[in-house]
Parts: sequence; C-alpha cells; structure tokens
Amino acid sequence: MTGTVFVLNGPNLNMLGQREPGIYGGKGLAEIGEECRKAGVKSDLTVDFRQTNHEGVLVDWIQEAADGAEGIVINPGAYTHTSVAIHDALRAVGKPVIELHLSNIFAREAFRHHSYVSPVATGVICGLGPAGYILALSAMKQLIAARS
Ligand code: DQA
Repeated sequence: MTGTVFVLNGPNLNMLGQREPGIYGGKGLAEIGEECRKAGVKSDLTVDFRQTNHEGVLVDWIQEAADGAEGIVINPGAYTHTSVAIHDALRAVGKPVIELHLSNIFAREAFRHHSYVSPVATGVICGLGPAGYILALSAMKQLIAARS
C-alpha cells in the first residue's frame, strides 16, 4: 500500500534551529523534512514536506490534499490558536489529519491551550520534539491502511 502524505508546517517553523532552541530544539526544518522523507521511504509513503508563513497558502495546500494526498500531518504554528479558515479547510477535506506540535502547548502560555485544529484532527501529537513527526507518519500509515 503506497500513498502520499502532506506534512504541512506553518509560520515561523522555517526558523527552527535558531528560534527559541530551549523550547523547539536545535534541529532545523530542512533536517526534519529529510528525516520525514526517509521514514516515508521505509513505510512506503511519499512525504510531501512543506512550510509557509501564510495562512491562505496553508488553506490552498489543505484543499490540494483532497485530490493530492491520502492524509495530512500539520503543524499549523501560531495559526493553531487563531485560524477558523484552517479549521474549515481541514473539516472539508475529508482525509485523516494529525495535528502536531514540537512543544507541549498545554504546558505553555494559556493562549496556546486552545486549538482550532484539534476538533477536526483525527489525532494530536505534542511535546515530543522532532520525533513527533516520525510518530505522526507511523500513525498516518495505519490510518490510511484502515481506510483502504
Ligand atoms: C508550535 C506551538 C505553537 O503554539 C507555536 O505558535 C508555534 C510552534 C509547536 O510546534 O510547538 O509556532 O506549533
């Protein structure tokens, strides 16, 4: 069973490695993307790994997943806590969705405790750093298999 998974990253995640390493770790996004692609090859998934700082671009990519992917792993960054547009796009796309955060958003500031994405996600992974991406792909593989 093969399939394409979109791994979508939102604002400021291009700064990983330099941005608040005490919270987000020292690994850059390019390295995380490479690890995801390798994990994908091992589990027969094509990983399409992307990042944007723009909310509308995330909405476009989520819509593209309707025909272009079997599932979506998304770290929406700060849009997690603000974006009804991303909520609506994920609700409409009808694919398995895993919401992912490097940090444990529930152990941080109160404004990070609410997510517009969680109610439309199949599952949520947070607080496990970059390893969360690999765990998300493994879970996504099972979600896709269960649907086919
Ligand atoms: C984040 C958590 C968000 O609250 C924050 O705005 C981010 C990154 C994470 O991966 O831990 O940009 O999604």
